[in-house]
Amino acid sequence: MNIFITGGTGLIGRALCKALLAEGHQITVLSRYPENVAVRFGATVAAMATLDAWSPAQRFDAIINLAGEPIADQYWSDRQKKRLWDSRVTLTEKLVQCIAKSEHKPAVFLSGSAVGYYGDQGDTELTESSAWGEDFPAHLCSTWEKTALLAKTLGVRVCVLRTGLVLSRDGGLLQRMLFPFKFGMGARLGNGKQWMSWIHIDDYVAMVLKLLNDPTLSDAFNMSAPNPVTNSAFTRQLAGALHRPAILIAPKFCLKAMLGERSGLLLEGQRVLPAKFQKLDFKFLYPTLDSALANLLRE
Ligand SMILES: NC(=O)c1ccc[n+]([C@@H]2O[C@H](COP(=O)([O-])OP(=O)(O)OC[C@H]3O[C@@H](n4cnc5c(N)ncnc54)[C@H](OP(=O)(O)O)[C@@H]3O)[C@@H](O)[C@H]2O)c1
Repeated sequence: MNIFITGGTGLIGRALCKALLAEGHQITVLSRYPENVAVRFGATVAAMATLDAWSPAQRFDAIINLAGEPIADQYWSDRQKKRLWDSRVTLTEKLVQCIAKSEHKPAVFLSGSAVGYYGDQGDTELTESSAWGEDFPAHLCSTWEKTALLAKTLGVRVCVLRTGLVLSRDGGLLQRMLFPFKFGMGARLGNGKQWMSWIHIDDYVAMVLKLLNDPTLSDAFNMSAPNPVTNSAFTRQLAGALHRPAILIAPKFCLKAMLGERSGLLLEGQRVLPAKFQKLDFKFLYPTLDSALANLLRE
């Protein structure tokens, strides 16, 4: 297939591009730094610097849309919220306009979202049919999804990827947590009762490939492992896997004072089940956190 991918240089995009290249697909990556694409992937991967360069005559069989300003890295000022919004919703709007202009429509459009779509619903188990939440990430995700789903009106199969916390050796949440945990400074966040819906990067990539290749699949998919855990359990299991203690607690009021509204990313969570993948009898290589950590922390 000839595949167009935004966010191809990111944590998930890099792993996905590697898998797609191994399967023999042709890839074009949209990147603000196109010169880095050849350095990272070699000359066989094409780069596009802006969607203004999109040609209606160019044929893409599939589009995968993963671009997005990192959500946890900076204080959520109005300006930063606009960057988070524009890099997802506005970019997706432009992408749908490009699809509309294309002479050869892609067969499938896979577009990003996050489990933050559900907001904080406590201990409730959340499947793809659960309601969306009310906070900023939920509003961002639900609008991002609705924008992507507009491509259905163009006759394109659309899947939105409600992504959990992706665990990888190459970056993201796990690598950020490793430093303090390795020094015995790992801490439970607040009361530790908030849920963490996580997914091993290898399972995530396999799920994306399934969505890419199965023409019967469409709409929203929870992209997380079947066994979410609370923050307390995550803290305990990560410390245990590293043979370190984790007796500290990061109090809620400190996190709120330090991070403001962004503290919701740490103090609130979602207990998500990948119900549609479970119904497909998808075989998770790493269904439990212990199995994922054992693999990812192997020397
Ligand atoms: N990783 C997770 O745990 C997780 C969880 C839930 C949802 N997600 C979502 O899944 C998507 C991919 O995640 P990821 O972890 O691979 O993200 P990532 O490593 O932060 O990469 C995202 C990519 O988006 C592009 N990008 C960043 N800021 C941008 C901006 N202001 N405007 C336009 N493009 C921008 C970058 O590409 P260039 O620098 O090449 O332009 C970057 O490589 C993201 O949208 C993220 O929100 C991820």
